[in-house]
Amino acid sequence: MQGLIDRLANMDNSAPDDYEKDGIRMCGKCHTPKQKLQEFSMPCDGHYSRLVPVLCRCGKEKAHKEDLRVEREQFRCQMQEHHDKYHITDRAYKGFTFDKDDRRNEKLSDVCLRYVEQWDEMKADNMGILFHGSVGTGKSFYACSIVNALLDRCVPAVVTNFPRLLNILQNARERQEYIDHLNTYQLLVIDDLGVERDSSYAAEQVFSVIDARARAELPLIVTTNLTNEELKNPSTMQYARIYDRVLELCPIPIKMVGESRRAGNASIRKAKAQELLMKGGLP
Ligand SMILES: Nc1ncnc2c1ncn2[C@@H]1O[C@H](COP(=O)(O)OP(=O)(O)O)[C@@H](O)[C@H]1O
Ligand SMILES: [Mg+2]
Repeated sequence: MQGLIDRLANMDNSAPDDYEKDGIRMCGKCHTPKQKLQEFSMPCDGHYSRLVPVLCRCGKEKAHKEDLRVEREQFRCQMQEHHDKYHITDRAYKGFTFDKDDRRNEKLSDVCLRYVEQWDEMKADNMGILFHGSVGTGKSFYACSIVNALLDRCVPAVVTNFPRLLNILQNARERQEYIDHLNTYQLLVIDDLGVERDSSYAAEQVFSVIDARARAELPLIVTTNLTNEELKNPSTMQYARIYDRVLELCPIPIKMVGESRRAGNASIRKAKAQELLMKGGLP
């Protein structure tokens, strides 16, 4: 034991700009102690004290940052493994992040940012958002930005859509395994609900995914072009059951209005192409 204590005491954590104060090594950067006097009590050696190395404030901060980095890296690898195995998300969704938000609608941006900040509460109360409105208004942008911000905080979250899920579920031998896997994500975003093919089989699959989410009491965010009226008065009983669950799981409805942003994006891209290829005009 004595040998172990000696080795601990002799561990060198010194740096060139350290200095001594009252016999204790101090960090030259943060000016906090890098040693402390530790009491030991041994049955054969009795009581004695030795100076042992400790982490100064900046050393602790550095160690904490390193722990976070390792945790993030492990999380990133785990998410990547899941994506490689289950293929439930699309690479395109990665590109929608809050840092690209032009904040044309500040209130809406703030609501979405606050959803991320209040994630623990949102999760505890199983609160999802329903982004509804016409095409190109930014529904997918905001829903994906929320997912990507949560992933940055090591919260398992994913965006998918039913055309993709239906393809997978149709071919999967382990259908239930996929559905269970979706519930390993704390947040699930279903993008573009309502664009999946209109069949009784599709409706059955959609129902099992949404119902599993409701039973697991996990948050769901949905984006859809369907109107409030269409959600409240669906044409079939199967969809009535689905939309009923969606409205219950997503108590925060956000109506997206305005012109499609895609038209604006297209004209910017067209101008850029003209500039690059035709030097001022299409032939
Ligand atoms: N807040 C925003 N800031 C910057 N670009 C945005 C924003 N919202 C949407 N966009 C852009 O507008 C286009 C359409 O948005 P999208 O979310 O796909 O619309 P929707 O899902 O409602 O059809 C995308 O290219 C997207 O990058
Ligand atoms: Mg969309």
